[in-house]
Amino acid sequence: MSDRPVYPGVVLVTGAASGMGAAHARALGAVGTHVCLGDIADTSELAREIAAAGGSASAHTLDVADRGAWTRVIEEIRADRGELGGLVNNAGISRRLEFMDTPDDIWEKTLRVNLFGPFYGIQAAAPLMRDSGGGSIVNISSISGQIGYFSPAYSASKWGLTGLSKSAAGGLAKWGIRVNSVHPGLVGTALVSGSGAFVESSLRSIPMGRMGAVEEITDAVLHLLSDRSSYTTGSELTVDGGLVSNGLYHRITAETEGSL
Ligand SMILES: NC(=O)c1ccc[n+]([C@@H]2O[C@H](COP(=O)([O-])OP(=O)(O)OC[C@H]3O[C@@H](n4cnc5c(N)ncnc54)[C@H](O)[C@@H]3O)[C@@H](O)[C@H]2O)c1
Repeated sequence: MSDRPVYPGVVLVTGAASGMGAAHARALGAVGTHVCLGDIADTSELAREIAAAGGSASAHTLDVADRGAWTRVIEEIRADRGELGGLVNNAGISRRLEFMDTPDDIWEKTLRVNLFGPFYGIQAAAPLMRDSGGGSIVNISSISGQIGYFSPAYSASKWGLTGLSKSAAGGLAKWGIRVNSVHPGLVGTALVSGSGAFVESSLRSIPMGRMGAVEEITDAVLHLLSDRSSYTTGSELTVDGGLVSNGLYHRITAETEGSL
């Protein structure tokens, strides 16, 4: 193994226009990977920015909930680059709605983007990854896909993605493709904007006492894409400041300090 991590030559990141997806894309560009930027929003400015910083990137219009769009984008990558060594299923949507307040359309849309999207993506990308000698798929789930979360559509979609990752890990190992899920806790992006009270209260359950930085999620994603995780597949990497493992007792001990 070399001194430095080795990354795939070409990686497709979905939801790359903003938030964590853009951070993953910039970091991949900086380590010499060609990044395919997939999003419903325009990513051409980000592609130019990555190129100006010395990297290489291409912009692809991609609605992850549309199977036909996946077929088109993977064909574009096959034609333009001839290979694909990594896929980051990062695109996701969230509406914080309580159980009985969740209407059909939100339930359906959330599952289509957060769960059908990665399923279509894995099916579309896996043959090209196989033909490229194997690779790594990183599915961005959430701690909401590891514990009960009050908003049913988001939680069900992320639990589904956790299971989809494990299923794909088993099914694609024969092609040299590893599949893992990353479970961010609270990270300050547009996804959590407008939820000050929610964030403030959540912080009291985080042993590390702060939100995660986008770069801390990027580090986990790059690790799983690199050769430094060559024996890791079907696993869950939780990046949450200890919230899932210790949040409950952290809050209890803080609230009962001195009277335990
Ligand atoms: N922010 C957090 O605290 C947090 C915590 C846990 C998990 N996550 C997950 O991390 C991922 C990234 O979240 P973020 O906070 O960066 O979100 P964000 O809202 O900042 O960015 C999401 C990106 O996905 C794109 N997108 C939305 N629908 C799409 C579609 N149908 N097809 C293609 N692209 C689409 C948007 O245009 C946007 O660029 C999501 O899967 C989210 O569920 C976020």
